Formats: sequence, structure tokens, C-alpha cells
Amino acid sequence: MMSTVLDEDRLRKIKEKISQGMMPQWILNDPAIFDEEIEKVFAHAWQLLGHESELKEPGSYITRWLVHDPILVVRTKKGEIKAFLNSCPHRGMQLCTADFGKKNTFQCPYHGWSFNNDGKLIGVVAGDKVYGEGMDKEQWGLKPVPQVATYNGLIFGCLDANTMPLEEYLGGMKWYFDILLNRSDGGMEVRGVPQRWILNANWKLTSENFGGDPYHVATVHRSTVELGISPQDPLFSGYGYQVVLDHGHNVNINTGVPGLDIPPYQGMPEEMWPMFQKNLTAEQHDILSKCTVIVGNCFPNLSFLSPLHGSEGHLHNYLNMRVWRPISADKIEVWSWFMIDKAAPEAYKQASYKGYIASFGPSGTLEQDDAEIWARVTQASKGILARDKDLSYNNVLNYMMGEGKVEPLDHWDGPGVAYPTCYVDYASRNMHEFWLSLLTGDVNLRQSAVHSEIK
Ligand code: FES
Ligand code: FE
Repeated sequence: MMSTVLDEDRLRKIKEKISQGMMPQWILNDPAIFDEEIEKVFAHAWQLLGHESELKEPGSYITRWLVHDPILVVRTKKGEIKAFLNSCPHRGMQLCTADFGKKNTFQCPYHGWSFNNDGKLIGVVAGDKVYGEGMDKEQWGLKPVPQVATYNGLIFGCLDANTMPLEEYLGGMKWYFDILLNRSDGGMEVRGVPQRWILNANWKLTSENFGGDPYHVATVHRSTVELGISPQDPLFSGYGYQVVLDHGHNVNINTGVPGLDIPPYQGMPEEMWPMFQKNLTAEQHDILSKCTVIVGNCFPNLSFLSPLHGSEGHLHNYLNMRVWRPISADKIEVWSWFMIDKAAPEAYKQASYKGYIASFGPSGTLEQDDAEIWARVTQASKGILARDKDLSYNNVLNYMMGEGKVEPLDHWDGPGVAYPTCYVDYASRNMHEFWLSLLTGDVNLRQSAVHSEIK
């Protein structure tokens, strides 16, 4: 494999190009870039571990990943949520090998040391005999994840103790997360377990697809229009607003299609409407009442989709949260959670779950559409020609949609800079520019308001 020489000046030149709508293709599949982004992005960014509803009672646990670190997330006896490196401090064996469960003590399968769910070492096989009575067990507990915090039920972890607090990191995204997660009494719940599968794709491509690419829907997902499960206009995903936020986060809000009747509140049951009014601000409520789809990406690798699917009499909405866990430059593990309002009627929840499985589950129609594309883009970004270092037109990808044509709105009720259509490339550029700013070291996640031009 040809290796790429990375230096800050070169990365700055690429960033400048991206701000003009031109992106070199090789950054989508480059091992040297991958190593850099693990150290400079993922080692410091907040990443999703799960949802509080997955840890219902004291003793509940789930096992997850923060990129290459296996993580054990527990609810302690006191009800707190804690997370540890899921690796035994004796010889490094993965401590808990199950995906989820409930227990107060974890015994290592290798030599039998045991730990409570506060991470303390509480038992050593033949301890007194082999280590002596003076062994200080306090020193040999599980290694805690440096920062763990929750927002509206979402559990996040961060591998850097010095990264800014979660709420500051989420910044303007909180306002949009509130619409998705806090609209109904009791918030959201996870149904089933997160589904996982491997894709031969680069994480930036999938994050960008959710955060800034409603344009692909008209072609890749055209069959959903023909099947009658999406609004009957192939360009439906363009109507609405693209919102560019601080820290590389992005949201797209699809609104109704002119001339087509769109059900309010994404087709949610009428009995829930008063809750939405009660729990959201007037501005948030206005968005929810008129939107069809909310889709976006919380930088770096947490994507979300709240769609309106189905046909007359069988409309459903759900919240699909996804982590694109980077494995290598050309491989990710997808973690996909189905979430639904706790307060929704049971029959609606079940219909909605079926709708998710058929559309964005691992074998869902829309999922299959996307997976094929992402794999082929990633594959085509690895070769000699795609790696040409000259930044002229022939050697860059086009991120110019809306350039010189679509201006931001003068007034927008929520945080961020909003554009009056989702068919623009400003969100994708926002994500890639922020990503490059972290790689060059021009910004870091310890600072406050690192992207202060976006309020
Ligand atoms: Fe866990 Fe030895 S590796 S007890
Ligand atoms: Fe798609």
C-alpha cells in the first residue's frame, strides 16, 4: 500500500479546498489518515455507548466498544452508570464476554479474579497463598472510562479526561436532540438489543451520508417512492432545511412536499400530540409538527434518523441511532438502536419496530441500498488514480451543491446556520472541515466554542 505523507500544511491545503467544495477522494480510504484520526479525533471525542433504558436496574450491564477499546457499562447498586475497560488488570483477558445481562460480580474467565460493579477487585483465587495477605486489592481495580455522561437518556463515553463536558460538546445539537428524545413523557426506550453488522466502508462516508446527503435519497432510495412507502415525489428529501452546527454536527429537517398531504408529527398517534406541545418549546414543536424526516450526524460517528414511513393507515415513526465504529480505513462495525417513545401505545411500538426492520434493519431495503453504495465508494477511493495528490478538478470530489446559489436563512429559530433546502453540501463540508481542523491541531476538543462562528 502506497503510504501518504501527512503534514499539517498539506492537510490545511486540503481543508481550504474542501471549503471551496472540492475534496480529495483518497481521504476516504487511507491507512495513514485512519491512524491520525484515531489519535486526534476518536481519542478525544464523546461517543455513544448506549441508552439508559438498556440498564434498567442495579446490576444491569451491557458490553460496548469505544473504537478499539472494549467497554463494560454497568448500573451500580446505587443506580449510577459507570463504564470500565472490559479487560482484566491481571493479564488483560476480556472480563465480561456476554453482550448484556445482570450481575453484581464479574469473574474473569482466565484466572478467576472477581470484581464488583464499582470496578473494585473483590476476589483473587488462592489470593493469600499466592500473593500474601498484604495484597492491596484497591490498586488492582478495573480501569474506568475517563468520562461518562448522559443526555436525555443517551449514555456517552469519552477516552480523554480533559475533553470539554458532554453538554458543551453537543452544543447546538442538544436543541435538536430534545425534539427527538424529549418530546414525550418518559422519553425514549430501546427495544430489543442494538443490531450489529460489518460494512466495508469508511466511517466518514457513512457519517456524511446521514449528516449532509439527503440528495442521494432521490436515486438510491427511489424504489421507496415507487413502493409507496415514502412521499410521492422523488425529490421529497430536498424540501426542508439543512442546519450546520458547531463541532462538525449537522441536522436535516425534511418538511412536507408542496401539493402533497403530509400527516402532522411524522404520523405519530393523535393521543400523543398534547405531550409534544407540553414538552417542547414553541419553536421545537413547530418543527416536529411539520416535519417528515429528521436525519443528521453528531460528530464524529453518531448518526440518527427519525423518519415517516409506511402507507395510509400504516404510518410509523421511530428513532434509529447508529454508531459507525471505525475498524480500519475501509471497515466499520454498525451499531443500530431502535428507539421509540416510551409513552406510545404498544401496538404502535410493534408496528414501528417491524417498519424499522423492513427499512433500516441490517436486511432492510433502504439499508441494503446504502450499504452497496458505501462499499463501492470506499473501494474506489483506494487506488492509484484516486490517490493523485494534485488538487485540480480531475482529482477531487464535488462538494459544490448550493455553492453561490443557496444562501443561509436570515432567521432560524434554532441553533446553527440553516439553509432553505436539504440539497446543499454545506453540512458535509462542515463535518470534513471540522475533522481536518482536529487533524491539523488548529482546534482541539479541550477548548470552548472552538467553532464560534456557528451559534
Ligand atoms: Fe483475569 Fe488473569 S487475566 S484473572
Ligand atoms: Fe440512504
